Amino acid sequence: MHLCICIISMKKIKNSKSKKVRIIFITGGAGFIGSSYLNKYVPFYPHYQFVNIDCLTYAGNIKNIAVSYYPNYSFERVDIRDFKKIEKLFIKYKPSDIIHFAAETHVDASIRSQNIFIETNILGTHNLLNMAKKYGVDRFHQISTDEIYGSSGRNNKTVFTETSALMPSNPYSASKASAELIAMAYYKTFGLNVVITRSSNNYGPNQAIIYYKSFTKQKITALWFWRKYS
Ligand SMILES: NC(=O)c1ccc[n+]([C@@H]2O[C@H](COP(=O)([O-])OP(=O)(O)OC[C@H]3O[C@@H](n4cnc5c(N)ncnc54)[C@H](O)[C@@H]3O)[C@@H](O)[C@H]2O)c1
Repeated sequence: MHLCICIISMKKIKNSKSKKVRIIFITGGAGFIGSSYLNKYVPFYPHYQFVNIDCLTYAGNIKNIAVSYYPNYSFERVDIRDFKKIEKLFIKYKPSDIIHFAAETHVDASIRSQNIFIETNILGTHNLLNMAKKYGVDRFHQISTDEIYGSSGRNNKTVFTETSALMPSNPYSASKASAELIAMAYYKTFGLNVVITRSSNNYGPNQAIIYYKSFTKQKITALWFWRKYS
């Protein structure tokens, strides 16, 4: 496995707004990484409001969220592909920030069936960007993946940087690369404050693993992950 954590910050967060009460949309908060984020940060930032937007696909499970009784947490079962319902949420909550985890995420599933990846990962992301622009969101964090770079080669010697070419090699990574490019376009064209992070594979509790590439490799990575971060 190659480790790549890449952060592309398009603009520093505006100082004038950084002290205001933040209302943060977390999309995909019932999934593996989104729920981990909420479980850590809802108690950590009691003065921020977290709104979890998730339509609960096979990968989402409301039981992953241990902080649902906190007053600064709320849940909206909404599909990010549903533009009208998403707009209603922007009107209702007036979010200051969006951390966009929601996605179809399994590579092997994307090879079997592509449409849902295009709809959720590209059109769903565009719905959120469009609303973020319209309602003046301070910061849009696009959770991306190192898979947008494609393969690091047989010897794993390729080093990727923020400026490496995007060469996705399957429908999942192509849909995530597309979402990134649209997010970058919203920064360049409309000045939306966009941050993009590209992490490598994560393993841990509450992960909906449906396809295994190499069990041994995943097991070793999981041990490494928990030792370092738990
Ligand atoms: N897991 C990894 O190793 C990894 C690595 C790099 C990047 N990422 C990225 O991190 C993010 C989260 O990954 P994860 O592993 O937690 O994914 P996951 O599949 O566990 O969770 C995805 C969540 O999104 C929700 N969702 C899916 N489609 C939706 C829709 N149309 N509307 C609303 N909610 C929807 C699901 O219900 C689920 O709760 C994704 O954007 C993924 O591309 C993951």
